Amino acid sequence: MPPNRRQFLAWGTGLMVGLALPAWARLQSQDPVREFRLVARPARIDLGQGPSFKAYTYNGQVPGPELRLREGEILRVVLENHLPEPTTIHWHGVPVPNPMDGVPGVTQEAVPPGGKFVYQFTAAPAGTFLYHSHVGYQLDQGLYGALIIEPRQDSGAYDREYTLLLEDWVTADGGGVAPVARRQPMGMMGGGMMGRGGMGGGPAGPGRQPLLEPYYQAYAVNGKVFAAQEPLLVRQGERVRLRIGNPSAATIYHLRLAGHPLTIVASDANPVRPLPVDVLRIGMGERYDVEFVADNPGRWLLAAWNSGLGEDGLRVPVLYEEAGAGDWVAPQFSPGLRVNDPFRLVAGRPWRVDGAEGPRYNQVLSGGMMGSSWWSINGSYWPDAPSLPVEEGRRVRLAYFNRSMMPHPMHLHGHFFRVVNPGLDPSLWPAKDTVIVDPMQGLEVEFLADNPGVWFHHCHNLYHMEAGMANTLHYAGSAHKEAT
Ligand code: C2O
Ligand code: CU
Repeated sequence: MPPNRRQFLAWGTGLMVGLALPAWARLQSQDPVREFRLVARPARIDLGQGPSFKAYTYNGQVPGPELRLREGEILRVVLENHLPEPTTIHWHGVPVPNPMDGVPGVTQEAVPPGGKFVYQFTAAPAGTFLYHSHVGYQLDQGLYGALIIEPRQDSGAYDREYTLLLEDWVTADGGGVAPVARRQPMGMMGGGMMGRGGMGGGPAGPGRQPLLEPYYQAYAVNGKVFAAQEPLLVRQGERVRLRIGNPSAATIYHLRLAGHPLTIVASDANPVRPLPVDVLRIGMGERYDVEFVADNPGRWLLAAWNSGLGEDGLRVPVLYEEAGAGDWVAPQFSPGLRVNDPFRLVAGRPWRVDGAEGPRYNQVLSGGMMGSSWWSINGSYWPDAPSLPVEEGRRVRLAYFNRSMMPHPMHLHGHFFRVVNPGLDPSLWPAKDTVIVDPMQGLEVEFLADNPGVWFHHCHNLYHMEAGMANTLHYAGSAHKEAT
């Protein structure tokens, strides 16, 4: 069995360090503190395919250790930086207090080599989250892990659960920043025509060229490629929950489990009305909790559609304890399958629409034109992007329009937003923190401004984010950087 629902109880007894905590981080209650130590350091890793290589790791492993605790407990993480460069940790999806958000230059100074930082916040709400570095390309070098917040009361709704992190890998020293072949952005000209780096678009003046996304060489789940994975064991009759997170830097997956439909029960930690799908589409930064009923004994594969690596694409074996010998059965992908999209999701519990109506900000996503490797929001490139003012207590809208030829999983820090669906009562709009905006698609989200600070907002394709597709929102009175 992989680390499971019970085992976490044995963890969290890490070392105590005597670092002073600011007043806001001091305990407000008698809630138990669970402390973990994460050491960011280079290490050789072995995905089970090809030679080992040097990546960045938490505690010498990829992904980093799964942090698991109960809703309402205080999570304290002591980050020690043994990397040759600064780092931070971002608690992806958790509405943490602003100073805990881990965005360098926005919510904290990055932790220098040899430095330490203590993150501390209340673990809430329950659900599936990620944690990852928010510095440079470190996410694509191995610095991520799962954060699982269990509900206060075990619902007993399923018999077995597994956490699956989906990972795209460059299997050379340095991971995502290794000198490997890179993909031209897909633009109006088809990409690749204008040479490396490209022309057209992009901030004026000289500056470093952003890295293009690599051609990935391996796809792994929980740090192992298919050939090296332990099968997910199930027993006939069980209801199995998969907590699936996508910390990949630049890959959207379409997953199908042979022999079984999947039922989505939560999206980005928020319960949704059970939605059966044949194919789960999951963008970078998204998490889906899905369930299936083990009613079809055999040796099945949960596999991603067309990664370009054929048989070496992302696959996970699912094995019934009662199954006999034989080959793994792969899922078929054909037209007409049911795939999730944000407009098919319905909130699992209705929420009260409160807060006065606030501003609506258009967010036009563009880039990739004429082979440019720069990506923008409203024509601006982070860090030279205007910060959007929000007022506490208001409902704020972000109205995306994607004017480019690539999908962008847009992620807002510090809040859950609701995906506006004109066909649905607003109390049932599904809450998420990351949503894919497809090419030429318009999509609106709304959030209640209830967590003061300066919050990062960006495309979760790491190579787009680093190439400008980011900005901030700031509450009145929060110190923020104005665009120059
Ligand atoms: Cu996974 Cu800025 O976030
Ligand atoms: Cu993008």
